[in-house]
Amino acid sequence: MKLKHLAAAGLALGIAAGALAQNRPEDEIRYRQSVMNVVARAFGPMIAMAQGKIPYNQGIVVKNSGLLEDLIGLPWASFGPGTDKGAPTKAGKKIWSEPAKFKDAADKVQQAVADLDKTAKGGDEKAVKVAVGHLGKACKACHDDFRTKEFHRN
Ligand code: HEC
Repeated sequence: MKLKHLAAAGLALGIAAGALAQNRPEDEIRYRQSVMNVVARAFGPMIAMAQGKIPYNQGIVVKNSGLLEDLIGLPWASFGPGTDKGAPTKAGKKIWSEPAKFKDAADKVQQAVADLDKTAKGGDEKAVKVAVGHLGKACKACHDDFRTKEFHRN
């Protein structure tokens, strides 16, 4: 019984390790899109607060900026070589022709998230709204340069 369980666990791990070693381009594309969508869902309420569309809520601000802090480092490794196609994507070709500029945009957004997270914990509503604006600009700057308007397959 015990050996059987070990073998089953080993098999499961073997598959997982294989997947880690070489993800298929379509998996990388779906992964980075999924993370981006979760990021946007966490950021959304804070944008609505900054725009005065919903009341300021310190609890949500702290929780969601913590989520952003956990998530924002995740998508970038999934823009590796060969992931420009394989599934419908909005990734622009410049990601691979101007990698330093893309990395710079990713670094900037991570800094903006760190600033927002720190400001959120401080609890100053005005400062939080300014930090939300800075982060929104950092998202948009990258999308303007590196994201296509429509999904494409190649
Ligand atoms: C360094 C560049 C970069 C930054 C910074 C960035 N994104 Fe993106 N984002 C992309 C790219 C490229 C895609 C397209 C990915 C794909 O389709 O393969 C994307 C896709 C998305 C999508 C999915 C769009 C769709 O039509 O499916 C959302 C939502 C999104 N980003 C939100 C955000 C938010 C919110 C931020 C800021 C917190 C942000 N992004 C920061 C590059 C970036």
